[in-house]
Amino acid sequence: MTKMPAATVSEALATRLSVRDFLPAPVPLPLLQSILTKAARAPSGGNLQPWHISVLTGAPLETLLQAVSLRQAEMPKGEAAEYPVYPANLGSPYAERRFKIGEDMYALLGIARADRDGRRAWFARNFRLFGAPVGMFCFVDRQMGAAQFSDLGMFLQSVMLLLREAGLDSCAQEAWSMFSPTIYQVLGTPANHMLFCGLAIGWRRPDAAVNTLVSDRADLEDFACFQGFQP
Ligand SMILES: Cc1cc2nc3c(=O)[nH]c(=O)nc-3n(C[C@H](O)[C@H](O)[C@H](O)COP(=O)(O)O)c2cc1C
Repeated sequence: MTKMPAATVSEALATRLSVRDFLPAPVPLPLLQSILTKAARAPSGGNLQPWHISVLTGAPLETLLQAVSLRQAEMPKGEAAEYPVYPANLGSPYAERRFKIGEDMYALLGIARADRDGRRAWFARNFRLFGAPVGMFCFVDRQMGAAQFSDLGMFLQSVMLLLREAGLDSCAQEAWSMFSPTIYQVLGTPANHMLFCGLAIGWRRPDAAVNTLVSDRADLEDFACFQGFQP
């Protein structure tokens, strides 16, 4: 898996993966500003552009990470979740997919299923952004619904592909929704904004085993059907 910049959209798609071990090297502000400006060309129903973004590095990021870490010590299961990250009774084949990606990742890390403390400690690395120097937090106006969450997804994917074009990597993180009240407090988030997810941004650590995790995808015929085409 290359960490070279992607030259085409196909290359950006092929080389994007959730990176979970980053180098501490800083990311220049003008680069992030340019990426977010370009990503805002993402389409949205009715051109609502319902995304609201906070990008943190340095001292403000450390303040947030510290606050969340303190909260996590008090409430390891998180504060009140604002939206269901997964449906309550996740059915097949989704439950199996979710289980498999977790098991594949822990196998690479050498953390056994029985090692609950090891898995908890690894999960907690979410709240250090896996060592990334930049955290991007995505909010949506509370009046929005499912359709606008999908708009946010298009914006996010655009950011992630543009990051690849610049040689950077990322990991989307819904885990942050577990501590949204603390995030609102530290960032002074307007009351009408709701956190969707975080995005760890930085350069991947090339020798980290966890960064070699290649997630499965269903075959084309399992999720798409085509009708009316000439053979
Ligand atoms: C909206 C969103 C939220 C995610 N939240 C987390 C998270 O909290 N922690 C994590 O380690 N990975 C998270 N992921 C990464 C997914 O597990 C990952 O995208 C999926 O397994 C496919 O792997 P890939 O991104 O490497 O292709 C998230 C991905 C998305 C799109």
